[in-house]
Amino acid sequence: MTIQKITLYCLASVFILFTTSCSNDDNDYQKAEEDILQKNITSLYGSLEALQLPLENDLNNIPSDPKNPLTPEKVALGKLLFHETGLALNPIKEIGTNTYSCASCHHSAAGFQSGNLQGIGEGGFGYGTKGETRHMSIDYLETDLDVQPIKSPSILNTAYQKVMLWNGQFGGTAENTGTESNWTPNTPKERNNLGFEGIEIQAIAGLGVHRLLIDIDFLENNGYKIMFDAAFPDTEESNRYSTINAGLAIAAYERIVLASKAPFQEWLRGDKNALSSNELKGANLFFGKAECYQCHSGPGLNKTGFYAIGMKDLDQNSSHILIDEATKKRKRRVYRKN
Ligand code: HEC
Ligand code: HEC
Repeated sequence: MTIQKITLYCLASVFILFTTSCSNDDNDYQKAEEDILQKNITSLYGSLEALQLPLENDLNNIPSDPKNPLTPEKVALGKLLFHETGLALNPIKEIGTNTYSCASCHHSAAGFQSGNLQGIGEGGFGYGTKGETRHMSIDYLETDLDVQPIKSPSILNTAYQKVMLWNGQFGGTAENTGTESNWTPNTPKERNNLGFEGIEIQAIAGLGVHRLLIDIDFLENNGYKIMFDAAFPDTEESNRYSTINAGLAIAAYERIVLASKAPFQEWLRGDKNALSSNELKGANLFFGKAECYQCHSGPGLNKTGFYAIGMKDLDQNSSHILIDEATKKRKRRVYRKN
């Protein structure tokens, strides 16, 4: 054996010794962090199961609106409608026809948020891999864009929320009971009178707000009619192909969009390798010393109370912000009821 070889063997065995002892330390550390996490969660919620999200096909255990029961047929229809640029039939400018959908501002690849600070519906052009290169089309004036003054929130886990939007304005139940006098006629909020939960009302109202239209010819020519028939067999045919049913289907789809495959959820379901030691450390801060759980709780890691936490609107001076919706002059538009 040459000197070099011996040195190499020595080095190699030192390396192996070093790494094995290191990974033993890692394992001990990991195990200790896991035990703390288990203890923290159990003492807060009674069990690990209490924070588990149902899987997307477990329709009986996903929170739903009793007035909009989840069925596989409804979810399948809603999934297509949510992404369907063919519904972009009520644009301010003709050239915008078929160029946007709910997914323009809620991209799956961007965690169902906008890939930009400000999502653009009508008037947006381009896409990128997660919406990051969607920008204002040169054919549009800022005042004609469909944009809002805050970043699109994610639709992920919205099943765990009864009222929708930053100000909670959508939803005809729960926290909004007793606010009927604010459901101003001829505004999207009027839809709360339908009595559905927030996610349903948002979808129904959102179709109108975002210039989408349920057109019977479009449905007929693109295989959608048969999907409405399967999703809404109990609605009379004369009412079946409506904005309300389209919204109910979209809401059913949004409810199954859950973070149930997140590493944290895999860990809760018993996969002890799902979380890295840094992630475990973070989880222990979250459910321990940092007390994030005070406001981020339950399977959705949320709470539906309202808190003043000092967040500002988007910075209007930033070059990434297209327009301040609050002050822009809006074109007068006819609010559609169906
Ligand atoms: C122009 C971009 C844009 C389009 C298009 C759009 N959204 Fe949104 N969405 C937003 C923004 C911005 C908000 C937050 C508004 C607020 O809170 O005032 C929002 C809020 C929501 C929420 C509430 C989430 C929460 O946590 O409160 C849901 C649900 C939602 N949108 C679903 C939809 C659906 C369904 C469609 C299609 C019918 C749609 N969005 C189309 C930008 C968009
Ligand atoms: C006092 C209540 C409160 C506490 C405590 C709190 N949060 Fe939040 N958190 C909020 C609110 C309210 C929002 C939504 C802010 C908004 O969108 O304007 C939020 C938003 C977030 C978001 C963004 C979620 C999204 O969908 O974009 C993350 C991430 C977050 N919090 C993490 C944490 C962490 C980590 C801690 C602990 C260190 C924590 N929060 C403690 C109230 C709280």
